[in-house]
Amino acid sequence: MNETIVTLQKNYEDRAGRQKTRITICAGTGCIANGAQAIIDSFRLNLAKLAQSNATLAIDTHDDHSETGIIGSGCQGFCQMGPLISIEPNGIFYVKVKQSDVDEIITETVINGRVIERLLYIDPATGLRCRGKAEIPFYQKQHRLTLELCGIIDPEDIGAYIAHDGYKAAFAVLSESSPEMVCAEILKSGLRGRGGGGFPTGKKWDLARIEPSDRKYVICNGDEGDPGAFMDRSVMEGNPHSVIEGMIIAGKAIGAKEGVVYVRAEYPLAVKRMRNAVKDALNKGFLGENILGSGFSFNIDVMEGAGAFVCGEETALMASVMGRRGMPSPKPPFPSQQGLHGKPTIINNVETLATVPIIIRMGADIFRTIGTEKSPGTKTFALTGHVANTGLIEVPFGTTLNEIVNDIGGGVLTSDGKRSDSFKLVQIGGPSGGCLTEENKSLSLDFDSLKSIGAMVGSGGLVVMNHNTCIVQVAKYFMNFTQNESCGKCVPCREGTKQLLLMLEEITQGKATLETLTDMEELANAVRIASLCGLGKTAPNPVLSTIRAFRDEYIEHIVDKKCRAGQCKALQKPEIHADICIGCGVCAKVCPVGAITGEKKQPHSINTEICIRCGACAQKCKFDAITGV
Ligand SMILES: Cc1cc2nc3c(=O)[nH]c(=O)nc-3n(C[C@H](O)[C@H](O)[C@H](O)COP(=O)(O)O)c2cc1C
Ligand code: FES
Repeated sequence: MNETIVTLQKNYEDRAGRQKTRITICAGTGCIANGAQAIIDSFRLNLAKLAQSNATLAIDTHDDHSETGIIGSGCQGFCQMGPLISIEPNGIFYVKVKQSDVDEIITETVINGRVIERLLYIDPATGLRCRGKAEIPFYQKQHRLTLELCGIIDPEDIGAYIAHDGYKAAFAVLSESSPEMVCAEILKSGLRGRGGGGFPTGKKWDLARIEPSDRKYVICNGDEGDPGAFMDRSVMEGNPHSVIEGMIIAGKAIGAKEGVVYVRAEYPLAVKRMRNAVKDALNKGFLGENILGSGFSFNIDVMEGAGAFVCGEETALMASVMGRRGMPSPKPPFPSQQGLHGKPTIINNVETLATVPIIIRMGADIFRTIGTEKSPGTKTFALTGHVANTGLIEVPFGTTLNEIVNDIGGGVLTSDGKRSDSFKLVQIGGPSGGCLTEENKSLSLDFDSLKSIGAMVGSGGLVVMNHNTCIVQVAKYFMNFTQNESCGKCVPCREGTKQLLLMLEEITQGKATLETLTDMEELANAVRIASLCGLGKTAPNPVLSTIRAFRDEYIEHIVDKKCRAGQCKALQKPEIHADICIGCGVCAKVCPVGAITGEKKQPHSINTEICIRCGACAQKCKFDAITGV
């Protein structure tokens, strides 16, 4: 083993070995948003105070004399329950911690080793309090591989990564393998790109490897423009060195000496952590000239993205890196032939690259035992929407929707916060993905099964929606997003998405006919086929997949002028419910157009011809007797 790795690992282990207690506070974006920074500061402040009177406590993790380590980790996944705190070696896991709890945690748990019951997670299914992560169903049902160290190690400590076998795969590849061997191993592992398309990574690398060129590039796609997705951000924030190690291995595989990490500018923490990790890796000789004495050189630049969804598309991304406007161009030529600055380039997603060192370490054959035959390994998903436990999860391919929604997600929530055992739909794969219904509950979630029903894994967004969701509004929401994000270069996408959005608007306004529905399907197919890049080609997916699964609800909007979820205001009829109204007269008083009449203490009525639907009456009614305004 390389001397640098051995020394760094030993230093870290010596330091960690002296720590009696290790407190890990989630410093992911979700927990920080919920107040984690104040908690971290309070811990440091309180421990500093305690340290003055009690010599067994110290605060600085990086201090060789410290016996209590406090680290801010990347996202631990269970964002819904944040801020989260783990205390080792006691194996205690506290949820929804407040700054005011810090003092008690230090006295009770850190010093006296007692558990504060009130801060433990309660499993809603059994009512039992869970002491540690191992007892919580949200974690039990996952297989954390790429996310294994996220939320465990300090992402700003290269020693922590190395202590968990970091950079050993890169060292093995640089010292023992040829580019052919690396490509062959990745091909054998069956790894498919996690950025949406599921293209075999080994094949992509091999295509770039065989291209003769003086310069080649490796690009890490950290753009992650899908609304609601935060998988790649969590990896970059929680374990940035795993991405760098994946890029070094990719560089060796194709013969590239330069890499670029393209990170969405709206992810400042990910940018900071990636830059910090690159700097540390360079300092320790894992990047730069003659890496670990192997004769191989590789440098990485971290670049902030332009903030547009289309910049995640390969050709647009490269244009953006080269300082041009982020617009796609036709393929071929493929990036592996003519990419950045006209040179062979591979572009891989963050999660794909972070999985590479794991494959090299465990071996392709063992990797293949996880997941399904044609989709080996695991996939991270951002689980959001009407589900009890939202957050970041990682499961083997082949896990069913039922397992994700009910076992990990803790079940569906109705609009009044109750639990339901069924959902209306699950939007998968982001704005250009598809929708899954109860019928697909037992479907194996993998690239091919999803494709066979017209959906896709996509980047990994999973939005669960309950029965109070209007299907047309869902399609409109996603179409609005892609229409806004269309770069406008090609007519089908620029004009087509606009027309599709208008048609959906007509349906929600009660102005559409059945012909509108037919036209919409025809246009959606035309946009899908004729668009220049993946944005336009997949933009109609939400429209097509929701029509496929919920045609009757579209027809209900068009023919019966009815929105069963009550979300299309134009289709609602103003109504005062006689069984609820007590005739207090407040509504009549606030109505600006005199549309409400009625005797005192008698149910009132509303003249729908006069009503302007300003909603003033419903806002004032204490009994919720008025709907449809
Ligand atoms: C409009 C659009 C947006 C995309 N956004 C991303 C993104 O944010 N991150 C990503 O990795 N791939 C994104 N992709 C897919 C990439 O273009 C590319 O296929 C992927 O990064 C390749 O990496 P992989 O083989 O590791 O999946 C997007 C594609 C399209 C068409
Ligand atoms: S940010 Fe803390 S669990 Fe996600």
